[in-house]
Amino acid sequence: MKAIKIHEFGDTEVMKLEEVEHPVPQADEILIKMYASGVNPADYVVRQGGNEILKPFLKLPLGLGLDGAGEIEAMGSDVKGFKKGDKVYGIPNFLGGTYAEFIAAKATQFAIMPNNVSFNEAGSIPSCALMAWNGMDLGKVGAGQRVLINGAGGGIGNLAVQFAKAKGAYVIGTASQRNFGFLKQLGADEVIDYKDENFASLLRDIDVVFDASPVFNEDARIIMAVALKDGGRFVSVQLPYPFSEEFLNILAKKHGEAKMIRRELDVALSLTDIAKLIEEGKVSIIVSKVYPMEKVAESHTELETKHVRGKIVLEIRKEN
Ligand SMILES: NC(=O)c1ccc[n+]([C@@H]2O[C@H](COP(=O)([O-])OP(=O)(O)OC[C@H]3O[C@@H](n4cnc5c(N)ncnc54)[C@H](OP(=O)(O)O)[C@@H]3O)[C@@H](O)[C@H]2O)c1
Repeated sequence: MKAIKIHEFGDTEVMKLEEVEHPVPQADEILIKMYASGVNPADYVVRQGGNEILKPFLKLPLGLGLDGAGEIEAMGSDVKGFKKGDKVYGIPNFLGGTYAEFIAAKATQFAIMPNNVSFNEAGSIPSCALMAWNGMDLGKVGAGQRVLINGAGGGIGNLAVQFAKAKGAYVIGTASQRNFGFLKQLGADEVIDYKDENFASLLRDIDVVFDASPVFNEDARIIMAVALKDGGRFVSVQLPYPFSEEFLNILAKKHGEAKMIRRELDVALSLTDIAKLIEEGKVSIIVSKVYPMEKVAESHTELETKHVRGKIVLEIRKEN
């Protein structure tokens, strides 16, 4: 079977489509015939050699890819709740490498995918969806709250907009102007250009900030913290950038909370709840482009622009 591997860190050309050994599932694992893998920022960060958080875990050679969707081909003896042929989506344990024709992964990291979407759609979102879901949980997002989502058009951001709307929040998204119409269609109540020179004066009385931007900007972080109400909450996806003293002082004066995103919710349960929202038509999956495995380099180049709308997908095999 084929998979994308890297034997050195570097530019997009270090990714090679290779013949590799077919995985065999352990007792608690499912063997998945993969149809699609999401392309996520962690993939290019790993390819480049990692950041401060990832570096200690990266041992070459490595597969790439955090998440995906496929069909169960076989199961270990301890696996319950799935059967051969089930269509699943999920997030194998970190560095599992989903850019592959088959993967073996812990069954607890997967759920039945929504029944009204393609493999490409389902495979594009598990990691981003889980991050956005965690963001709503950590931010205690609820009905009537004013929720600011920074980077609202991206992989995590667009799902956060939809999850917050599904919870009944008033959603303010930030984006470049070309994404204003898109975000309004997704349900955002207000859209603001994060490059607007009046950015600070456009924000007020925010209950929750969910910073889902792939670009760290301390000034923007401070502006958004200042816009929080007393007791407001700030959740960030920017794991390699700890909160500064100045930022934490602002939060303390507002009796607020600041949290970095963590994968602390049950993966299978969360993905099952998310699948329900998708099947009910409350959340849409936005795939802006599909690349075949042979074009993995182009998929990374596009994601590295940091201006992808929704998700891009690596199609592992075509769906009938
Ligand atoms: N994907 C995951 O599973 C995951 C997991 C943990 C952590 N993270 C981290 O979360 C961050 C976001 O991930 P993602 O997958 O959502 O990224 P992404 O899809 O690449 O994000 C693209 C979006 O970022 C927006 N953006 C670009 N520059 C911005 C800026 N200066 N201010 C505000 N928004 C900006 C773009 O908006 P416009 O095009 O409208 O300008 C675009 O909509 C990354 O740093 C990633 O490392 C991701």
